[in-house]
Amino acid sequence: MEYKKVTIASEINAQNLPKHIAIIMDGNGRWAKKKGLPRIAGHWAGAEALRDIVRTCCDLNIQVLSVFAFSSENWKRPAQEVNAIMNLLLYYLKKEVDLLHENNVKINVLGAWEELPQRIVEQIKYSLKQTKNNTGLVLNIVLNYGGRQEILSACKKICADVLEGKISQDDISEEIFKNYLYTQNLPDPDLLIRPSGEIRISNFLLWQIAYTELWFTNIYWPEFKPENLMEAIRDFQKRERRFGGLKK
Ligand code: FPP
Repeated sequence: MEYKKVTIASEINAQNLPKHIAIIMDGNGRWAKKKGLPRIAGHWAGAEALRDIVRTCCDLNIQVLSVFAFSSENWKRPAQEVNAIMNLLLYYLKKEVDLLHENNVKINVLGAWEELPQRIVEQIKYSLKQTKNNTGLVLNIVLNYGGRQEILSACKKICADVLEGKISQDDISEEIFKNYLYTQNLPDPDLLIRPSGEIRISNFLLWQIAYTELWFTNIYWPEFKPENLMEAIRDFQKRERRFGGLKK
């Protein structure tokens, strides 16, 4: 089954789309509270919102979408909530993988996902294998991830390669360093979206967002609609990106 096409708002310039959009899917708990529902109902509604955003990114021919699903710090939450999020992830991967595959989406999982419960690791492996040759949207599901942890782990791998003589200390450049991160050869995010009214980065893709345009909204993630994505893209297109240089 192919995704139903969304109408692309004419105000969007198809020549100046962000190649990579990153989203911190925040506000699920507060959305649920507002509705008098348990927190996990917010996460389920968040997964529904994600489906529409993935579909919209496919329609817009966005190259990469990275979504923060579970941070290294989220383990601090009550075991019941952690368990429920894990079950939701498993359900989402099982239920969505065929549809994602039919729509040429390549699933990628960033973070220390091998440390997750075995049933999730198995499902991730299956999803990665099934979609590995797809050439459409790259969907980075960011799981058990922390930006600082990622940078430290890259440093450790580089040290090991230097000690083994695979590279020399003088070879270490930004380009080389990048290859040791989970994102490797993917472009850096052009646009980072954070809903829910919080104006912070929360340890997400710290290296990669050095020159990313940031966009915040008060809407809780379960209420985030394709129209909101379009609004973020329209704002992005009004920005002048100078990457530390001068106005052209
Ligand atoms: C933050 O909201 C959200 C999370 C920690 C979980 C995000 C997970 C999903 C949206 C589920 C779907 C994801 C996939 C990949 C299927 P919060 O709980 O911090 O909200 P709050 O700040 O309002 O409490």
